[in-house]
Amino acid sequence: MNAVTKLIDTKTAAKWRKDFPILDQTIDGKDLVYLDNAATTQKPACVIETLSRYYSEINANIHRGVHTLSQRATDEYEGTRESVRRFINAGNSSEIIFVRGTTEAINLVANAWGASELKSGDEILITEMEHHSNIVPWQMICEKTGASLKVVPIDDNGDLLIDEYKKLINEKTRLVGVVHVSNALGTVNPVKEIIDIAHAHGALVLIDGAQAVAHMPVDVCDLDCDFYAFSGHKLYGPTGIGVLYGKEALLEKMPPWQGGGDMIRMVTFDRTEYNDLPWKFEAGTPNIADTIGLTSAIEYIEGIGFDAIKAHEDNLLAYAIETLSSVPGFRVIGTAKEKASVLSFVIEGIHPHDLGTILDTEGIAIRTGHHCAMPVMNRFGVPATARASFALYNTAEEVDTLKAGLMKTMEVMGV
Ligand code: ALA
Repeated sequence: MNAVTKLIDTKTAAKWRKDFPILDQTIDGKDLVYLDNAATTQKPACVIETLSRYYSEINANIHRGVHTLSQRATDEYEGTRESVRRFINAGNSSEIIFVRGTTEAINLVANAWGASELKSGDEILITEMEHHSNIVPWQMICEKTGASLKVVPIDDNGDLLIDEYKKLINEKTRLVGVVHVSNALGTVNPVKEIIDIAHAHGALVLIDGAQAVAHMPVDVCDLDCDFYAFSGHKLYGPTGIGVLYGKEALLEKMPPWQGGGDMIRMVTFDRTEYNDLPWKFEAGTPNIADTIGLTSAIEYIEGIGFDAIKAHEDNLLAYAIETLSSVPGFRVIGTAKEKASVLSFVIEGIHPHDLGTILDTEGIAIRTGHHCAMPVMNRFGVPATARASFALYNTAEEVDTLKAGLMKTMEVMGV
């Protein structure tokens, strides 16, 4: 047993693991080793039970019924807004907008804020490590408004070049869009510093928190970010539900994005009066069940606490880097000063897709490909990487199984 393994609290991880029924299965006769948590996390039984209880006991449309079920569904749906507010320490639950996920949240800001505020000559500043969801919506809105997109480069470790950021930001910069934790590299960005610099130049900041919220506490008031986006399914919650946090004054000023039920107060053929926040941005029947399921995921995480989660995942990541480093040809892509939960790597002589396919025959689930971050792959001169990403239920034993799987893959591929 080495120094890092000793730090891993296997008993506690084993207890947490039991909360996730899906993990107790075999794939082709091999115990499932699920290491694709950056793509989506598994769901604890309490979330699954909440979804089942919603459909067996409560299901009704919200905000529109006088009947009991509708009132119960409305109370639980709005209760989630308060849970999310508490979870990210927003000042007011009207600053919590429910969306499908991070991608929709960023598209909402690009279309509602961007379309009404941007003009030719304005600049949007993003980073070279953004995921496509924090690139493409800005490209699209720049094309429509005549604004231009600028990109802050990263260094060979995958750290943001803060000096370059300081050179690129100027009085034309209207918004800085930056990922909190990179899905392809695991880099944890110094978001507070980035926000302070942006505000000193009068620019707004949107943080893509998709890979952060399950791994570290997020306090939007302390960060002072203008927008913060995340998805429920990477947070042990259901798919199809995500959150856009926005400062109230900004959201008030922004026009709605989509039109329809719930976002209106009064409609005639001549004109429409929009609803108050947050409903102004929630057109149509929302994803009620999954929103309510998100409360259970948040309560589950709060019950464990980020001190324990972060310590466990940091130890696992350190153990994985140390263990896999002895695999011939193994190279980590992304060696930033501060990393969270993501280990992207290549093995010389083996394409990541072959790696992923052979590991699957061993019951090991990792993600291979460009991770929806093609510019990151270009920056590191690789077509793709293999990515193991950790969650609170992963164990040191699973890292050992991954290493054995990599050795077997090399044997099969004759490398
Ligand atoms: N963005 C998700 C990932 O990194 C889908 O896998």
